[in-house]
Amino acid sequence: MTQKFGILAFPAKHSLSPVMHNAAFQALGIDAEYGVFEIPPEDLRGFMMEARETIAGLSVSVPYKETILKHLDEISPEAQKIGAVNTILNRDGRLSGFNTDFIGSNKALEEVCDLKGKKVVVLGAGGSARAIIYGILEAGGKVIVKNRTQEKAEKLAEEFGVEASEWGAVDQADILIHTTSVWLEDPGSVPFFCNLEYLDHFEIVMDIFYKPLTTPLLKEALKLGKTIVTGEKMLVFQAAEQFKLWTDRETPVEVMKKAITDCA
Ligand code: ATR
Repeated sequence: MTQKFGILAFPAKHSLSPVMHNAAFQALGIDAEYGVFEIPPEDLRGFMMEARETIAGLSVSVPYKETILKHLDEISPEAQKIGAVNTILNRDGRLSGFNTDFIGSNKALEEVCDLKGKKVVVLGAGGSARAIIYGILEAGGKVIVKNRTQEKAEKLAEEFGVEASEWGAVDQADILIHTTSVWLEDPGSVPFFCNLEYLDHFEIVMDIFYKPLTTPLLKEALKLGKTIVTGEKMLVFQAAEQFKLWTDRETPVEVMKKAITDCA
């Protein structure tokens, strides 16, 4: 019987995950299909009960990465420390939660540098930022977190044992990573971190957003000749780890990359 997988999010329609995973299933001749589950919060409980019976694995995205934990039977130590799950594996009705986002962000960064000893400023304090911070610390880097709501930055900094910096303040580090949803909320805005004076204090600039691939931040970073890391890299690498967890097979990463590039 065809195994069912999919992305659980709200909204979910514009996700690129189906394109990547279906291409990978096809390339390996696995009888599986990956769909979209756009579930409003009031239907989440019912959906998860049904998923136990019918779905082999799920990707989890906004806004459920944190709230999904209470619907699961076990959570990996990494996901527990991060406080967020982006992958669910169903083993005979038992739901296990994992986080592959931190592996995705580390692999994307490791294409351009060695994270050991690097100083990294992370913009944002949501679920994505938590996974990225965990990954950087695991790889031996140092983190400074910065968030619009200062209180949240300080709370997160304390929890992970890192520094917090004020939202508008100047920072000096090797790498800048943007994780906020500023352009989802306000597409035309130009936040202070896009200023050339601010950006010039970094060598590498990464954005986790990928629509467009060269975000307003990355466009400015390129003007200064900085090394940039576009958001689809983390997307592909976190998906590749999910695929490995679900299938126990080596993920055809190049197939996933091509599937994304073809529809970008
Ligand atoms: P995700 O799971 O993608 O990280 P999230 O948990 O909803 O999403 O977190 C969104 C992040 O974007 C938060 O850090 C949020 O800052 P606040 O804590 O101040 O809300 C940040 N964010 C959202 N809209 C923003 C905006 N207009 N300007 C700056 N930061 C914004």
